[in-house]
Formats: sequence, structure tokens, C-alpha cells
Amino acid sequence: MPTVTLANDKRFEAAAGVAILDAARTAGIVLEHSCRTGRCGSCKTPVRQGRTIPLFPEAGLTRQERDAGMILTCARSATEDVVIDTEDLPGGDIAVKTLPCRIDALERLAPDVLRVRLRLPPTAALRYLPGQSIDVIGREGLRRSYSIANAPTADGKLELHIRQVDGGAFSRYWFDAAKAGDLLRLEGPLGTFFLRDAAGLDLVFLATGTGIAPVKAMLEDLAARPADAQPRSVRLLWGGRVRGDLYWQPQHPGLAYTPVLSRADAAWDGARGHVQDVLLQSPPDWSRAAVYACGSEAMIAGARERLVAAGLAPRRFLYDAFTSSAPAAAAVAEPVTA
Ligand SMILES: Cc1cc2nc3c(=O)[nH]c(=O)nc-3n(C[C@H](O)[C@H](O)[C@H](O)COP(=O)(O)OP(=O)(O)OC[C@H]3O[C@@H](n4cnc5c(N)ncnc54)[C@H](O)[C@@H]3O)c2cc1C
Ligand code: FES
Repeated sequence: MPTVTLANDKRFEAAAGVAILDAARTAGIVLEHSCRTGRCGSCKTPVRQGRTIPLFPEAGLTRQERDAGMILTCARSATEDVVIDTEDLPGGDIAVKTLPCRIDALERLAPDVLRVRLRLPPTAALRYLPGQSIDVIGREGLRRSYSIANAPTADGKLELHIRQVDGGAFSRYWFDAAKAGDLLRLEGPLGTFFLRDAAGLDLVFLATGTGIAPVKAMLEDLAARPADAQPRSVRLLWGGRVRGDLYWQPQHPGLAYTPVLSRADAAWDGARGHVQDVLLQSPPDWSRAAVYACGSEAMIAGARERLVAAGLAPRRFLYDAFTSSAPAAAAVAEPVTA
């Protein structure tokens, strides 16, 4: 069976036909990822040595990146021993589980946003890092990813913020049929959008829409950290189209919060436009900044490009893109060799 070696010399076996990301997870090794469908680009890595083949199209890579030998670990399988230029992340000791859960409560936060609380059986706790997501699995195996909007609590309940997508299969269930007591399944925790070392940094959170959910969980996590692990400053820019889209009042000691509207009426005297543009009007000291961005694919792509061009180190731009779950097209056949 092919072996995959990381930049820090950790190794794991990766069977043919299994994505490198999944093989790593089976071996208790966590690699950077988010969508797991080849779209967001968060799992991209250069290959130093060895051949891989795609299991499905790698939309999250540009042609230049592909030509330069980059791969997406969620979409590629190793066909021989491979060395990739990435390191693992903490969290390898947290098992990904599939668990039954019930809807504990449903509450409308905005005309098109629901807060859903899920409760787990008393014997089944879900360990996760604030910022991570779960897949909710409904009838006939339909599944969608949702960020957990709270840091872990003693009662183990999970809060989700769910936006209605017109014509969306799972949206139809949540907004037309779901009721307290419904039985669902979840798989998680998923993704690597969680707080890294924040001590002494200027933290900036960028969110659009329900992208605020993992940010809320991270702020709760931050508030519980000891004084010597605290950042130097915390800023949040949360974007929506109109005032009603910003359905929650962010709270955190010393938080500098800027609501940003892209389609505000004349009465709005706050920031207008896109969150990344508003941030660039009063940028942080990039040498001490870390940016955590969550929400639409357009915001993530725009923010990454503009903030890195302005001076942010690429490794200090952490993100979770709410990619849609459009099915991947048929697999492409070309291998990548370092
Ligand atoms: C890691 C991750 C975390 C996520 N967390 C959250 C979360 O916390 N809250 C949340 O509300 N959503 C979240 N999402 C998005 C969520 O998983 C679903 O994709 C979304 O809710 C649509 O599902 P649906 O079944 O209602 O629509 P689908 O049946 O999947 O889609 C119906 C149609 O709408 C299009 N579409 C789907 N999503 C969008 C969109 N966002 N904008 C425009 N068109 C779209 C599809 O291409 C399709 O044509 C997350 C996604 C990922 C990958
Ligand atoms: S492209 Fe691989 S995790 Fe999103």
C-alpha cells in the first residue's frame, strides 16, 4: 500500500482509491481541509515526490497551481509512495463519529435564518474544537455541512445557524417540515477551521451571513482562554445585505465590531460594501495579524487575494467557505507526478 510522508516526516498508509485526506484521518492525522468536495482549495498542497490520481475534479485549484504540481488532498489518491509539503494539525486524537441526534428546539433568527439546537443521546458526547462543523444526515442519506455555533457546553447540545437557500433540498426540510423531536444523524467533527495560537496577535474575524456561526463559537472559546493566551486585539466585521441579515449581537470583552451592509437603505449610517474592503480602509499591522474568514465563496476568495496582496502572510489567513453541495462531475483521469 502506498505511504504518504508529510513535511514533518509523519507517515501514514493510503490505500488506492482512498483520498489522501481520508487516509490521514483514518491514521489519526488531521490535514487542513474544509469542504471535502474539491471546491474550496483549503487542502491544497505541493507534491514533492510520487504520483497521485484525482478521484473527482479539483475545482479549487487554478491551472497554474495544477501545472506547478499542487494537489487537493480531499480529491487525490496516491498510486505510489508520495511526499507532500504539508504538516498535520492538532485534533488527531478527536474521533470523527456518526451519531443519532434529535432536534431539541427551532427558532427563527431572521426571516431566512433558523437556529437549530440538536441534542445527543445521554451516552454519546461529540468532542470538537470551536469553529468546526458537522454533516447533518437526513432522510435517504441526504447530507449537508453546518458549522457548530457554540463552544462545547456541559449539556452537549449543538447550535446551528441555517440559512434558507431557495429550492434547496435540505432547506425545504428545515424551513417547511422540521420540528422539535425529529430524529436525524450527524457526522463530525469536520473541518480544520478552529483557533490556532492567538497569544499577542491582532485577531480579525470576517463573516458573511451564517458564516458568523463558527465565529460565535470561537469567540466563546477565546473568552475562556487564560490571560497569557489572549490576543492583543479582536476585531469582527460581519457582512449582510440588509440590517435584518445581521441577526445576532456579537459580544466579547474588548471586541471591535463593525457591521457591514452591501445593500443598505439611506438610513444606514454604518459601513457599506464588502467586509474585506472595509477592513482595508483601516488595516491592522499585518505582521501581527491573523484573519479567520467564514461565509460565501466569493467573500473568501476576494478577501484572501486582497489581504495577502496587502501584506497578510498566507498561512495567517484561515477560512471556511460555505461551498454549495453541487455534486462533483465525473472523475478526471490525469495523474499528477512531482
Ligand atoms: C464546511 C461547510 C460549512 C457550512 N456551514 C453552514 C452553516 O453553518 N450554515 C448554513 O446556512 N450553511 C452552511 N453551509 C452550506 C450548507 O452545507 C448547504 O450547502 C446549504 O445550506 C444549501 O443546502 P440545501 O440542501 O438547502 O441546498 P442544495 O439542494 O444543496 O442547493 C440548491 C441549489 O442552490 C444552490 N446553492 C446551494 N448553496 C448555495 C449558496 N450558499 N448560495 C447560492 N446558491 C446556493 C445549489 O448550487 C443548487 O443549485 C456550509 C457548507 C460547508 C461546505
Ligand atoms: S478543496 Fe479539499 S477540502 Fe475543500
